[in-house]
Amino acid sequence: MAHVALADFLAELDRLQADAESAFQQAADADAVEAARIEFLGAKSGRLKSVQKGLGAVGKDDKPAAGKRFNEVKQAIDAAFEAAQNRAKAGPALRAGTPEFDPTLPGRRPRLGHLHPITQTIEDLKEIMGRLGFTVTEGPEIEDEWHNFEALNIPAEHPARDPLENFYLSTAQALAKSTAPASAATGEPPLLLRSQTSTVQIRVMENTPPPVRIISLGRVYRPDTADATHCPMFHQIEGLLVDRRVTMADLKSVLRLFARSFFGGDVHIRFRPSFFPFTEPSVEVDMSWHDRWIEMGGAGMVDPNVLKAVGYDPEEVTGFAFGLGVERVCARRHHVTDIREFYKNDVRFLEQF
Ligand code: DAH
Repeated sequence: MAHVALADFLAELDRLQADAESAFQQAADADAVEAARIEFLGAKSGRLKSVQKGLGAVGKDDKPAAGKRFNEVKQAIDAAFEAAQNRAKAGPALRAGTPEFDPTLPGRRPRLGHLHPITQTIEDLKEIMGRLGFTVTEGPEIEDEWHNFEALNIPAEHPARDPLENFYLSTAQALAKSTAPASAATGEPPLLLRSQTSTVQIRVMENTPPPVRIISLGRVYRPDTADATHCPMFHQIEGLLVDRRVTMADLKSVLRLFARSFFGGDVHIRFRPSFFPFTEPSVEVDMSWHDRWIEMGGAGMVDPNVLKAVGYDPEEVTGFAFGLGVERVCARRHHVTDIREFYKNDVRFLEQF
């Protein structure tokens, strides 16, 4: 057998190790790892095997050094093979060469949203009033003057109907400015964004004979400058109960039960005399909570003119109605001092609810 110099043998081992390590390093998937395995570690004709054959041709004195180095190289190639195998198993992310990926790090939770505090309040109000036997109804946000004013006993000359106090729709706004009577100009009835949910009282009573027991929740619009307690768009909850022999005492106990459920604890109710065109008598409703009186909205006994407007007989039935500001009850419950916060959409604020 031809004699092989130790230096040549060691150089061949170095080349083998370098080639094998780079082949396993670049093997991107299980097939490539297997191909490299066959090339370098194949039992019959792998490169390691053929180099091993050369070991026999090394001189006797050089055998121990050559054998030691051979074993080192074999271990290095085995290790490179094993690492490549593990990478191939671990999936594409690791194989794509992202060594900084640390699978032991805790995952990042996706951020979950939740209902807006005003929506939460609306859901609570529906639930509480539902338990008291009130059904939820809805009405349109674009209204005519009959439902927003006329039928609610708000006559044409009433200041609440001033075009500057309402969002009339553009056709109607043009009419309001012109000197010609509205109907004469285009023949269309003026339309506006409803300024109160009391409109729904009329819509329900027009379509249902008594008794009625409904609430309606929704957006209302007024050209108010936004400040801590005003917003040009806000929400109201309207309640209406019409039946035989309904009294002011019924109104007060319903509102008291409602307040206790909503705020929790021993909430008291106070009525202050007031005026609304659609109720007689009319009251402002205050609720005491945390030793403070909070103004919640208006209420009263449905005015006989309203009952007549929808074809009810005021001698037969009576009713009570109330209208409360949703932003207001929500703000009070959560100790929010500026209702504009609800509409800034700042998640740092909204996350707290
Ligand atoms: N609609 C009134 C408002 O927007 C609130 C109101 C007062 C509603 C008395 C009622 C009521 O149903 O009886 O200011």
